[in-house]
Amino acid sequence: MPAGTIAIIGVGSVGASIAYTLMQRGLARRLLLVDRNADKARGEALDLEHCTPLVAPVDVRAVPLEEIAGSEVVIVTAGAKQEPGQTRLDLAETNVALFRTLLPEIVRRTPEAWLLIVSNPVDVLTYAALRLTGLPPRQVVGSGTVLDTARLRSLIARRVHLSPANIHAYVVGEHGDSEIAIWSSADAGAVPLSALRFGESAVLDGAAEADLLEQTRRAAGEVIAAKGATNWAISVATARILEAYVRDESAILTVSRLLDDYHGIRDVCLSVPSVISRGGVGAALPVPLSAAEAAGLRQSADAVRAVIGRLGLL
Ligand SMILES: NC(=O)c1ccc[n+]([C@@H]2O[C@H](COP(=O)([O-])OP(=O)(O)OC[C@H]3O[C@@H](n4cnc5c(N)ncnc54)[C@H](O)[C@@H]3O)[C@@H](O)[C@H]2O)c1
Repeated sequence: MPAGTIAIIGVGSVGASIAYTLMQRGLARRLLLVDRNADKARGEALDLEHCTPLVAPVDVRAVPLEEIAGSEVVIVTAGAKQEPGQTRLDLAETNVALFRTLLPEIVRRTPEAWLLIVSNPVDVLTYAALRLTGLPPRQVVGSGTVLDTARLRSLIARRVHLSPANIHAYVVGEHGDSEIAIWSSADAGAVPLSALRFGESAVLDGAAEADLLEQTRRAAGEVIAAKGATNWAISVATARILEAYVRDESAILTVSRLLDDYHGIRDVCLSVPSVISRGGVGAALPVPLSAAEAAGLRQSADAVRAVIGRLGLL
């Protein structure tokens, strides 16, 4: 069952790709595209409209922000993006300033809508969205490390020659340089990854794990250096979160969400495995962590809290 109306604020590379993916998956009956560059929004809407006879019925329109009232979900991708060599946290000041004006304008028109934040740094901006709007935590979510988790699973799958669908491993914490992987509970088809043998006698040892996590952390930078932006994988990750919401799946996804005493961490938005259903952001799963993983998650929380504190959001 598709959602009624989904508004996408910011129709650059990421916003346009999300619109395309939602359309392909039949996840919305109406897509509203909003960009401060009205020509860009209109061009994307027209281009997508020309697909409509060939996909599930959907009405695509470019509209000014004033016309998003009634949207069931608002996806925010507006803002500055990383230039080669920049970290996501380098964008915090610019994009928090943008959110201070943009978010109240959105929520004034769509107080009931589920807010899905994609702009970076996504953890800082998800926290900012909560603070700036006063919405309840279940109503505000960040795309978080759904993307990074997919990246790690695909890298592991390639290394062990198994389908990524059968690799279960979560990336948690900041969607950024301090993210960590939960190796202690990672498995392939119910076999702990640490016990898996593949090829002759190869195993995923500590060095291989560190290498795979490093590749995951560097993945966005590599894509940006090569083609200027990342768009396809984030659009599919966002569509997956939307799908769990629209279909009331109670799916477990590593979204960015407000933490309240998660392994002792509170009052910060970070990604941990969380239940997504039509009710919005549900329980955070109490995944067991090794001492090193718990310490890594706390360091990640400290890194994000330092930025939200510096920007006066605490
Ligand atoms: N969360 C993730 O995993 C993830 C992945 C990729 C990119 N991103 C982030 O998504 C954001 C967008 O990236 P992009 O590559 O699409 O950038 P882009 O520059 O192509 O697009 C940004 C768009 O936002 C629009 N915009 C700016 N201010 C606006 C406003 N007030 N109202 C409406 N529109 C506004 C711009 O006109 C532009 O079209 C960046 O912050 C980027 O870092 C996040």
